Amino acid sequence: MEIEQRINYLRKVIAYHSKRYYENDAPEISDFEYDKLFEELKSLEALHPEFYSPTSPTLRVGGKALDKFEKVKHEVKMASLTDVFSFEELREFIRRVKSEVGDNTEFSVEPKIDGLSVSLKYEDGALKVGATRGDGTTGEDVTANVKTIRSIPLELTKKASLTVRGEVYMPHKSFEKLNREKEENGENLWANPRNAAAGSLRCLDSKETAKRGLDIFVFNYQAGELEGVNTHKDTIEKISSLGFKTIPLLYVGNDEDEIVNAVIKLGEDRPYLDYDIDGTVIKVNSLEKRREMGEGTSTPKWAVAYKFPPEQKKTKLLDIVIQVGRTGVLTPNAVLEPVKLAGTTVSRATLHNIDIIKEKDIRIGDTVIVQKAGDIIPEVVGSVKESRTGSEEPYNMPEKCPSCGGSLIYDDADDFIDDGEDFTLGALRCTNPFCPAQLERNIEHFASKKAMNIEGVGGKFVKALLKNNLIHDASDLYYIDKSEIASLERMGEKSAENFAKSIENSKNMGLGRLIFALGIRHIGEVASGELANKFGTIDALFDATMEEIKEIGDFGDVMAKSVVDFFKKDETRYIIEKLKNAGVKTSEDVKEVSNEFEGLTFVLTGTLENMTRDEASEMIKARGGKVSSSVSSKTSYVLAGEEAGSKLTKAQSLGVKIIDKEQFLEMCK
Ligand code: IVH
Repeated sequence: MEIEQRINYLRKVIAYHSKRYYENDAPEISDFEYDKLFEELKSLEALHPEFYSPTSPTLRVGGKALDKFEKVKHEVKMASLTDVFSFEELREFIRRVKSEVGDNTEFSVEPKIDGLSVSLKYEDGALKVGATRGDGTTGEDVTANVKTIRSIPLELTKKASLTVRGEVYMPHKSFEKLNREKEENGENLWANPRNAAAGSLRCLDSKETAKRGLDIFVFNYQAGELEGVNTHKDTIEKISSLGFKTIPLLYVGNDEDEIVNAVIKLGEDRPYLDYDIDGTVIKVNSLEKRREMGEGTSTPKWAVAYKFPPEQKKTKLLDIVIQVGRTGVLTPNAVLEPVKLAGTTVSRATLHNIDIIKEKDIRIGDTVIVQKAGDIIPEVVGSVKESRTGSEEPYNMPEKCPSCGGSLIYDDADDFIDDGEDFTLGALRCTNPFCPAQLERNIEHFASKKAMNIEGVGGKFVKALLKNNLIHDASDLYYIDKSEIASLERMGEKSAENFAKSIENSKNMGLGRLIFALGIRHIGEVASGELANKFGTIDALFDATMEEIKEIGDFGDVMAKSVVDFFKKDETRYIIEKLKNAGVKTSEDVKEVSNEFEGLTFVLTGTLENMTRDEASEMIKARGGKVSSSVSSKTSYVLAGEEAGSKLTKAQSLGVKIIDKEQFLEMCK
């Protein structure tokens, strides 16, 4: 009995101090004292499994790894928000709502956290299920991982049964630590805190999640008991009193200008926050009025997200260096005085091409403005002319390839084809097919996720393999001995083991991926799949003529010629032979296809919830339809997901039918 009491006491005290430390940033005891209490509880629990509790704070460190996540159907759909991109649109929203449900309507303004949405279900005050949003209807059960997030209460202050929703995110401090560790281990870095948060919450091993320093803001009550609340503000206060870390309400009121000002103020505070936000959410405060307005088809009518333009910062342009890409294109890159931007420290950014440098008159030594395009790739937007001292120097492109000394040519208009490749009219290209920089990029591309998906074969690793003469082309990856990997700097038995495993897996990626991996100019993922479907084996491609290739609808002269030229090269034969001898699959399985989509061409754009583009393409092809990479008047449907870009605009202007995932699934039934 005494032991059980001690265990219960320790659980309570630890939960209390953990909250003081992690949420309020006001610890009352030292780390040492805290660790002592924690260790005592852990050993008592180990000795007395009969007192197990699913809400013990010891579960915060993670448990047994899973094989996969179970699916969870949400009780209430986890909707997303309609975006607005200007204050004008925001004002229109406010006016529209007021005219619909009354001039006295109040709104709340809160940050839009850039992480991933989860739902948390509690029964009798105890956390039962934590699930990702997934497609809004069905998500994944990540309960064990969610339990490792310190600010998520395992037990509420009352024995309430309810489900709340919040955004799990990675604070900048955790993100920097994680990437520092990755850098030290020679691993690829996370591109931004959002990706890191999503990756960390979806680790099958919750012990790993526990180390990632994730956090949460709860912003919604989904279902269950919550009495005496009439407004969003009441809800937030009530759930906060139950023990949740809730979203800060920056303004609650009725005045249009004050709402806009609160949004502007958050934009100004954005660089000083310890977490990424990508906008502001403006919601109707009264729950009654929300009900009156109703839910839209996929987004509620009572809220919008004002999206911030990408964060920009000023810094010094220290130098311009040239990067040689996979297809030989020379891209000028800015070397910058390191600056913090949208969660990462940026010291390199693309300058795209010499025309842009000249047009914007960007000089070495200039103060420049940088931003992250799509919040991932940093770019230089322009220079601040007023800050010039006179010592800035204009830049000229080199006359020879900086990697191999080979001669350079300019891409001209005849070469242009809208296949999403890195073509820029006027771009400089190295003509030497054996250029080492191109080789390095080519091998990286071969191993990349969408190609042969050989995990862990990133830039640094390829460089090390080439430097140590372990490989000379991509096919050599299949002939490296494990012991040779283990002897490389910063690599051990474990990395060698992992490498061997992913090499083995990559042998069965299929013909489409293999063609894509070979890096044939102008031949992207979709075109590779089409070639695989039509020709079935790599050997058939060696004999394919331009005419035969052009029978594939999207293929014109430039693409067809590129394929024929590629398969004419002795080097291609040599590499394919080596791949075959290593056991890499070079033929496509013949799949059963039906014909409901015969004659229909689909273009995919944006991100589809819970469905990869590959999966959608497979579904289309399995029904006899075609997938194309560019929109034209011949396109039957554009399947648009979230954050769809220029393809969607083009489809609208051409009057092509646009469908979302739900409509697509309906068509596939
Ligand atoms: S409200 C019906 N509030 O943004 C309720 N969402 O595009 C809809 N998000 O998937 C969500 N911060 O994950 C809401 N303060 C906030 C938010 C927020 C981040 C995310 C959420 C949602 C996405 C909407």
